[in-house]
Amino acid sequence: MAQTIGIGMCGGIAAYKIADLVSKLKKHDFDVIVMMTEAAARFITPLTLQTLSGREVLTDLWTESREWKVQHVGVAEQLDLLVIAPATANFIAKMAHGLADDLLSTVVLANTAPVLVVPSMNTNMFENPAVQDNIQSLLRRGYHFMDPDSGLLACGVTGKGRLPEVDDILKHILALLKPRQDLAGRKILINAGSTCEDIDPVRFITNRSTGKMGYALARTAAARGAEVVLVSGPTHLEIPSGVEFISVRSARDMCAAMLQHQPGCDIIIGAAAVGDFRPATPAEQKIKKNEDGSGRITIDLAQNPDILKELGKKKEPGCIMIGFAAETENVLENALAKLAAKNLDLIVANDVSMEGAGFACDTNICTLISSRTDIRPMPLISKDDVAEAILNRAAELLL
Ligand code: CTP
Repeated sequence: MAQTIGIGMCGGIAAYKIADLVSKLKKHDFDVIVMMTEAAARFITPLTLQTLSGREVLTDLWTESREWKVQHVGVAEQLDLLVIAPATANFIAKMAHGLADDLLSTVVLANTAPVLVVPSMNTNMFENPAVQDNIQSLLRRGYHFMDPDSGLLACGVTGKGRLPEVDDILKHILALLKPRQDLAGRKILINAGSTCEDIDPVRFITNRSTGKMGYALARTAAARGAEVVLVSGPTHLEIPSGVEFISVRSARDMCAAMLQHQPGCDIIIGAAAVGDFRPATPAEQKIKKNEDGSGRITIDLAQNPDILKELGKKKEPGCIMIGFAAETENVLENALAKLAAKNLDLIVANDVSMEGAGFACDTNICTLISSRTDIRPMPLISKDDVAEAILNRAAELLL
């Protein structure tokens, strides 16, 4: 289930920026409940926020809600995090003194989830001892605060008081959310990295994969409570804590380890860039070059097992199998062909020739495909976020 973030908006000129925050939170798969004070609704219409959040926007304590019997209590119970942004001097004072005279302030009192307050106001107002005392008192109670940015303010003054960049607010939100334990009790098998196929005792064939995507999946799945087995080719990455780690070199070793750990798995993810071919007969001794420079050798390559296809043949009922399709052309058609050929439930397709996608970078641009009629493109996001999205989709498919 998606985590729920409450966004409490107060009346400040920065309110319009919250539309972007809500849109970004939705792209991260959060359920977002927007609450606006009467003043906030004078700066930006609830309709904008309703459209972006896909939910009723709550503005009034007295309007009957379609969803909750006792609106402020019902909303508060649902929240994993409450963000007050922009937070005005008046609303900070209300929170500090426990006032509850509108919808948002009643939700604040009924809420037990962590609260992130993002103030935005004129510099002198922000620095006023009354405001600072209120902030200190909320900090003592465990509220989280973001410091306003400095710059030209809407009032014409240059100083501290601007709403921080939306991406920075997003980072704070992600850092404050406790990882869900929605994968507790699930066993997940993941392979990652490249494979190495020996030509002779010192040379080998490999590829450009760094393992970042597979390691992000393993780290994220473990943080969400899963029992994770990570089968990895050689990488320079830190082994994620809390996972069972199996180090392999060749595709055949990786295949054997995956088959050994397959029984009882709820989710299997093939994130490794498995070498499709290996030298048919690796030389036992180092191959020597010709001193006169005339040397020329031919390496006879044999095909490696298709690991996911082998696992797909032995797929247990209820197990969700996920693969990647790294393509440079015809992404959709090639991905659909792999989905079928390997007996997968989900394929993560990406065009590795695009900037910001594929090997050796920290971001990816993927499309989650579970059938020809269920194709979900994602924007350029970090591999950690791609991992979250893949696991969210896997958790849905498990139901
Ligand atoms: N894969 C695998 N074993 C292989 C090759 C690929 O398990 N020998 C898995 C990869 O881990 C990935 C998916 O299959 O999840 C697709 O890999 P990809 O390299 O895109 O495709 P291939 O199946 O190798 O096909 P081709 O190289 O012809 O595109």
